Amino acid sequence: MKKLVVLSGAGMSAESGISTFRDSNGLWEKYKVEDVATPEAFDRMPEVVLDFYNQRRRQLLECKPNAGHIGLAKLEKDFDVHVITQNVDNLHERAGSSKVLHLHGELMKSCSVNDINTAYDIPPANPDIHIGDKDPYGNQLRPFIVWFGEAVPMIEPAIKIVEQSDILVVIGTSLNVYPAAGLLNYARRGQPVFLIDPKEVNAHRSGIRYIKAGASEGVEKLAELLKEMKEVPANVPL
Ligand code: APR
Repeated sequence: MKKLVVLSGAGMSAESGISTFRDSNGLWEKYKVEDVATPEAFDRMPEVVLDFYNQRRRQLLECKPNAGHIGLAKLEKDFDVHVITQNVDNLHERAGSSKVLHLHGELMKSCSVNDINTAYDIPPANPDIHIGDKDPYGNQLRPFIVWFGEAVPMIEPAIKIVEQSDILVVIGTSLNVYPAAGLLNYARRGQPVFLIDPKEVNAHRSGIRYIKAGASEGVEKLAELLKEMKEVPANVPL
């Protein structure tokens, strides 16, 4: 089976009702990154940061995967699909995708302030993290999120996955944030790269096949294009 790798961003979950970051009315229009998404913010105002993620976690519990998430999961019938997501929601998994790598952490998990690599599941029935909530070793818990300025431990495994891809599909990301945005450079020259977004995105790479649509409509169009490609004999250049 051909290896189809997806790099998704906030736009993937927009149709599920989750705000993106940089669109109008996006999250970073309402909050300053430095107040809610940096280790310094957590040191300075832990309650504000915990509340920001508690609100996003509660919102996620009200949302469900959209047709784009579901369409990607269905592609596993015909492709070895690996999803690399910048999103911290769990909508890809809830749609049925079986291989999902989170570059920027996971909203439904917590970790210790002293060990950001050991994650603990947060039960939907008790979705908040408060000051005084501790890990088994007595350390304060924090969101299992990669904050600005922190290392992105999953970038190396993500690079390897993209290097081994036959097809790369970029969905719903403005490609503003590195190292995630740099993953495109690891796709082999000449391999098919699709980009699904209702707006123009500067991907700094030639030969990209743009599908100018939202995630739900775009993934449906992608599935049709991939079907046509499968019907073309392998030795005919795409
Ligand atoms: N379907 C597909 N794409 C959409 C949709 C939609 N319905 N609506 C908006 N988009 C596109 C926008 O046009 C934009 O290109 O989704 C993209 C969202 O871009 P950003 O808001 O910048 O989100 P993202 O690229 O995921 O941000 C990357 O930045 O703040 C950090 O850690 C955060 O993971 C995030 C990272």
